[in-house]
Amino acid sequence: MSTKIEMLKAEFEKEIELCENSEAIEKIRVAYLGKKGKITELLGELKNVPNEEKKAFGQNVNLLKKFAADKIAEQVEIIKKAEEEKLINSAETYDLSLPSSEESGSYHPITLVQREVEEIFASMGFTIEDYVEITDDYHCFEALNIPKHHPARDMQDTYYLDNGQLLKTHTSAAQNAIMKKYGAPLRAIFPGRCFRNESTDACHENTFFQMEGMMIDKDISISNLIYFMKKMLSEVFKQDINVRLRPGFFPFVEPGFELDISCTICGGKGCPSCKNSGWLELCPCGMIHPNVLKAGGIDPEEYTGFAFGLGLTRLAMMRFGVKDIRDLNSGNLKALDQFKHE
Ligand code: PHE
Repeated sequence: MSTKIEMLKAEFEKEIELCENSEAIEKIRVAYLGKKGKITELLGELKNVPNEEKKAFGQNVNLLKKFAADKIAEQVEIIKKAEEEKLINSAETYDLSLPSSEESGSYHPITLVQREVEEIFASMGFTIEDYVEITDDYHCFEALNIPKHHPARDMQDTYYLDNGQLLKTHTSAAQNAIMKKYGAPLRAIFPGRCFRNESTDACHENTFFQMEGMMIDKDISISNLIYFMKKMLSEVFKQDINVRLRPGFFPFVEPGFELDISCTICGGKGCPSCKNSGWLELCPCGMIHPNVLKAGGIDPEEYTGFAFGLGLTRLAMMRFGVKDIRDLNSGNLKALDQFKHE
């Protein structure tokens, strides 16, 4: 009987030496130590062994079992190292001068919509401004006629930094700096990433994009605002868009409005997308409040202006039929890939 153990040991040693990769080792492990493995089955033969040899036989099989398990663990380590080395060596042969694959990247849907809107406004004489993402209480709220403890602050909870600065909750945070930079008259749009302390779902994100627009001059009125919005939206949606204004409250505009557009899906007849109303809410806007003009160094007796806050993220969702806002920040290339040819 003990010669049987010896023979099995020799056979195992020979086979394990020949193993060249992890799969081969796993096969050997199953073949010898698995439920129906050769070593495991030896133990089953214990009942045929004469009584006086039973103890020694059992001990020897267990020794072989341990020997095989140790040897396998050792071999696994050796092969793992060899496989890693192979990987590193193959990485070294990666040739950066080879032409890249044909699969090129694509613009993010928000970038696509942003550029389109920028182009339309640029053609109407608006400049495109950049603004920071981290700003302070003054620019985000105070300069916009939202004093501390004003209830309107509740609508825009944000993330605060240890030094007292905050992540801007709306692109309106740039109004003051842009007024101070250019003075009146002025026409500018400023796209930007905004942040709010929100729980996310298919329609809400803590990070989203807006495009603010501002026009300040002598005798600017609500009709100018309606004209520019209607023109821009008709070009973005490539169809004639009707707009309507409803009263809306924002401390930095007076009067303030919610601008709705005729539903782009049903054309205004009523469908599930517009909750059968025929209208979609798109863009808060209004005539800039005299206090905001004053804070920006512009005389409200001489100049008036309008401002609007277009939801770029929302516009991109409507334009491309994106159903879940979270797809846009997910970095999921499969979700974003489909806009490649837009
Ligand atoms: N900043 C406002 C918001 O994000 C929108 C807005 C912009 C309203 C400009 C009026 C004028 O809610």
